[in-house]
Amino acid sequence: MNLKKENVLIVDDNYDMLNLLQRHLKSFDYYTYKASSVNEALDVLKHNTIDLLITDLNIPDINGIELLKYAEEHYPLLPKLIITGLPSIENVVRAIKSGALDYLIKPFTAEELQKAIQNSSQKRKPIVENIHDKAENNYAGITGCSKKFKNLVEIIKRVENNKVSVLIEGESGTGKELIAKAIHFKGAFSNMPFISVNCSGIPENLIESELFGYVKGAFTGAGESRIGFFQAASGGTIFLDEIGTASLALQTRLLRVLQEKEITKVGSRTPEKLDVRIIAATNDDLFQMVQKGTFREDLYYRLNVINIKTEPLRERKEDIIHLLNNFIKKYSAELNKPGITINSKVTEILLRYSWPGNVRELENVIQNMIVMSDDTIELQHIPEHLKYHIPEQKGTLKSLKEYEKEQIIKVLAAVNNNKTKAAQILQIDRKTLNQKIM
Ligand SMILES: Nc1ncnc2c1ncn2[C@@H]1O[C@H](COP(=O)(O)OP(=O)(O)OP(=O)(O)O)[C@@H](O)[C@H]1O
Ligand SMILES: [Mg+2]
Repeated sequence: MNLKKENVLIVDDNYDMLNLLQRHLKSFDYYTYKASSVNEALDVLKHNTIDLLITDLNIPDINGIELLKYAEEHYPLLPKLIITGLPSIENVVRAIKSGALDYLIKPFTAEELQKAIQNSSQKRKPIVENIHDKAENNYAGITGCSKKFKNLVEIIKRVENNKVSVLIEGESGTGKELIAKAIHFKGAFSNMPFISVNCSGIPENLIESELFGYVKGAFTGAGESRIGFFQAASGGTIFLDEIGTASLALQTRLLRVLQEKEITKVGSRTPEKLDVRIIAATNDDLFQMVQKGTFREDLYYRLNVINIKTEPLRERKEDIIHLLNNFIKKYSAELNKPGITINSKVTEILLRYSWPGNVRELENVIQNMIVMSDDTIELQHIPEHLKYHIPEQKGTLKSLKEYEKEQIIKVLAAVNNNKTKAAQILQIDRKTLNQKIM
């Protein structure tokens, strides 16, 4: 199990240097990922949980400084160390300014390397303390402290007071609905209605009447006139959730509304003017669907005037700590366990986990841990599927056993740690499953 071992990413275009670093790091009990170019390094950073980055400065394709800058922007909590063969003060200063915590000059001894690593982990940013200093970190219930969070709030503020269409794209549980509500309830039309429509839930034969309403006598059973979703949202916002699941028939109707900005009730001939803001959300790749012909291109462009992409939690680790603190505060009060604390080892595991269910999963896990613990959340309170999680090791070859373990973890995560269900999917019995995850 790769829980305690820290993962170090080493970047150098010289294979001898990579091997040497790997040998040293292995002897200090680190797990290493090797990259011989900046692109390779970015790929590793994207797909794995890395605890320390060691990079050469002179890499042919893209300079090591660029890598540092990228890492500083996207992984601000990741300690970074540089190694250089040609120590110019200017380069070292640039590297430090770009986020490196320490530097090492080639050739170096194992002891020097170890010292530099210790040094940079001591200088590591005090994440938890830092967070409480941040002034604005809550916007209509959306909380965070990462740069990505700040950019998000910036966009929301720009769109909340006008009625341009917004498309929110992102993985499940990343807060798409929360953002849609923030735009509406923070904006100038917050006293008007917010109507949420799940696009997967409208039966084909009811699309027209659900969206546009009907007049009395329009069809058998239409005893009274009724307004549809669009008119219900009049003056406010209609939230088209899961737009990627909309049938082609629904897409066509929606497009017509967006083009004509008016609707006609079923059974009526009089079009009525419409004044609503449209916010759509999806966890599908709509652009790809357009390309494949399963989503109408014209509708895509009408919806996608302003695009908001929510970032997965694993790509904004500093938000994990922030959300963690917030949820602990919230649920310890709700569950009547004030003053509950969390063991820092638990925090560490939570930071290393990849959170496929994003904020929703984090929120559930915290609630669960608070229920299970007394005054401190300890290692034993962590749900099993998190403990057995191993970061994906892209590019490295694995043994069958490792594959098996990963598959078990994935399935457990997907079924919310329900072992009976997991065993069914994996086609093994529960007892075997238990043995395998011991
Ligand atoms: N930045 C955040 N701060 C606080 N809570 C958040 C944040 N992002 C998401 N949440 C919480 O996570 C849960 C999931 O959010 P939400 O329902 O908006 O996700 P979603 O992207 O619409 O997911 P899905 O695609 O599965 O519908 C909610 O309980 C929400 O309050
Ligand atoms: Mg949603």
